[in-house]
Amino acid sequence: MPRKCRKCGQPAVINMRQHKLALCKNHFPAWIVEQTERFIKKYKMFTYDDRILVAVSGGKDSLALWDVLIQLGYQADGLYLGLGIDEGIGYSAESRAMVEDFAAKHPQARLHIIDIVQTYGQGIPEVARRTRRGKGKPCSVCGLVKRHEMNRVARELGYNVLATGHNLDDEVAVLFQNTLNWQVEYLARQHPVLPETPGFARKVKPFFRFYERETATYALVRGIDYIYEECPFSVGATTIYYKELLNQMEADKPGAKLHFYLSFLRAREKEGLFTQRQEEKLDLHPCPKCGQPTTAPGLCAFCRLWE
Ligand code: AMP
Ligand code: FES
Ligand code: ZN
Ligand code: ZN
Repeated sequence: MPRKCRKCGQPAVINMRQHKLALCKNHFPAWIVEQTERFIKKYKMFTYDDRILVAVSGGKDSLALWDVLIQLGYQADGLYLGLGIDEGIGYSAESRAMVEDFAAKHPQARLHIIDIVQTYGQGIPEVARRTRRGKGKPCSVCGLVKRHEMNRVARELGYNVLATGHNLDDEVAVLFQNTLNWQVEYLARQHPVLPETPGFARKVKPFFRFYERETATYALVRGIDYIYEECPFSVGATTIYYKELLNQMEADKPGAKLHFYLSFLRAREKEGLFTQRQEEKLDLHPCPKCGQPTTAPGLCAFCRLWE
């Protein structure tokens, strides 16, 4: 039997079993906006005085996040990175078109576009083929390029907060992977808010408590056009395998994913799990070429990609 909205009795567009909450096409997007505001405050992500750069990929999560932050009245501009990924489906071209289309409908926010091919001469697939780091795994090169460029643009243009669209499914898959391998240094850094440190903008994930189906439903009911295709290189990624496993758990036990992640945050906060490690001072110095802090002896890993 179709469910009814808890607030008004109209047909529900989503039933969130972990919250025992079904909502209609009006009350659900309003709930997402309210909850996002609540998480921003609860986790002290940013205030109305901060200048926020939202990294938008053209996917549902980051466009939905930008949409919510604009509605809430934050100073939130967008950054799109053109990664030069075509692979026969025009992936980068199509995702860029989605972002530009969204930006055109929201003239109160600015969109910055960095085309990696134009700026550095090669796209992710070529760099991956050429470098040892990228052999067989463009995602590793891509992650490095994205992190470096997001931080560079934020700092050069005076944004003190960098926001990404990571959702709970993303975060839980990474947490699960890091736990299975007991990657202590990664676990220490896994948090929805990473404070600003010299050379690095603050990093926040305001959607980290929403399930992927919730951000997708939000984009749908808000009429946000986004790219449905996943990046062609993500096929077969281990995180996708973990997402499937976790979804099986969730089906048997609604709320299992949220519980796993929130318990991790509580253990960090209340028991100090992994936090000592985080406070250890790393031996950072500015990269001689780009100036971003690095632990590498010479050029940073990003600059070495282009040598
Ligand atoms: P992904 O690593 O593809 O799962 O993306 C995680 C988050 O990184 C997205 O929600 C965006 O906020 C950001 N992001 C990914 N790709 C891009 C891109 N090409 N340009 C700007 N931001 C991106
Ligand atoms: Fe970077 Fe797929 S988005 S390799
Ligand atoms: Zn309703
Ligand atoms: Zn560098």
